[in-house]
Amino acid sequence: MLGDKKVLFSGMQATGNLTLGNYLGALKNWVTLSDEYECFYSVVDMHSITVRQDPAELRNRARRLLMLYIAAGLDPEKNCIYFQSHVSGHAELAWILNCYTYMGELSRMTQFKDKSAKHADNINAGLFTYPVLMAADILLYQADVVPVGIDQMQHLELTRDIAQRFNSIYGDVFTVPEPYIGKVGAKIMSLQDPSKKMSKSDENPNASIYLMDDPDTIMRKFKRAVTDSEGAVRYDEERQPGICNLIDIYCACTGHTADETVAEFEGKGYGDFKTAVGESVVSVLRPLHSKMEDLAKNKDYIDRVIKDNAEKAQYAAGKTLRKVQKKVGFPEKIR
Ligand code: TYM
Repeated sequence: MLGDKKVLFSGMQATGNLTLGNYLGALKNWVTLSDEYECFYSVVDMHSITVRQDPAELRNRARRLLMLYIAAGLDPEKNCIYFQSHVSGHAELAWILNCYTYMGELSRMTQFKDKSAKHADNINAGLFTYPVLMAADILLYQADVVPVGIDQMQHLELTRDIAQRFNSIYGDVFTVPEPYIGKVGAKIMSLQDPSKKMSKSDENPNASIYLMDDPDTIMRKFKRAVTDSEGAVRYDEERQPGICNLIDIYCACTGHTADETVAEFEGKGYGDFKTAVGESVVSVLRPLHSKMEDLAKNKDYIDRVIKDNAEKAQYAAGKTLRKVQKKVGFPEKIR
């Protein structure tokens, strides 16, 4: 609790081009939850360097991601929107938590296995301890709730285990966080292979809708989306995974239910359905694009948000960090 509100923490990596999966699985829910909670939304640039980055590009992407949080509807006066690298407590707590996390736990993480297969020439220690930094992000702010897509659940479970382990040794130091998984959109799949999640790192650009894609590109990608030969819009995950994914996207964008969608497109072909899905996505992303353009013109405003919120985050993080340092036995600073 901070004041009379529960605390929410979440973050996104400034790596690659953000996809519709990031928006529907995470960002959209962040906006919905932002009134109810005291929110910390971080651009997790420290996580990004577990994979080699071009420095100028990372800097640029990180800033654009922070702007995107605002463009999506998060008010930076009410929500603490900041860069992870601006708050030293993330790294400091991560070090401490590393000493309370087991090698066996980290080697079971599927994201580590996937990423080390993908970047076999750079399996660095940061990639291995990535989930500990993520645990530090969350526990530093005593978060009660963490809205994420399904792919982050394993990391969140590890965070809970680390928090419980630490608490069982030192008393109630950390709030044990609960995941928040949205009802629709928690796992948006590739448009080209509905057995894989939509991912920023997919080599096939037709597999993902990027948040900054223009309307024509979005419509074209949906037209090319892989479906099946059943010929009817039905929610059948076994036989029609591509159509199910399109139904999920449509529901997440329009607020309709799967049953309503199936009824709406009864007797209609896939062409009509794909056009409607494309249009629903375009209408969700259009305001995001125009807001991004406005924000890009307002450098001073963004700079002020970055500065003020980093201070706010540092203050909240410092409270937990001092408590933890004391618990583990670090000598107190002389002021
Ligand atoms: P990242 O940057 O890969 O993704 C950001 C958020 O988007 C969700 N997401 C999806 N949701 C639905 N369908 C998809 N296809 C899809 N792809 C991505 C992710 O689940 C995530 O919620 N490790 C995290 C970042 C992180 C973090 C944290 C998150 C660092 N510290 C603390 C929460 C709390 C990551 O790489 O997410």
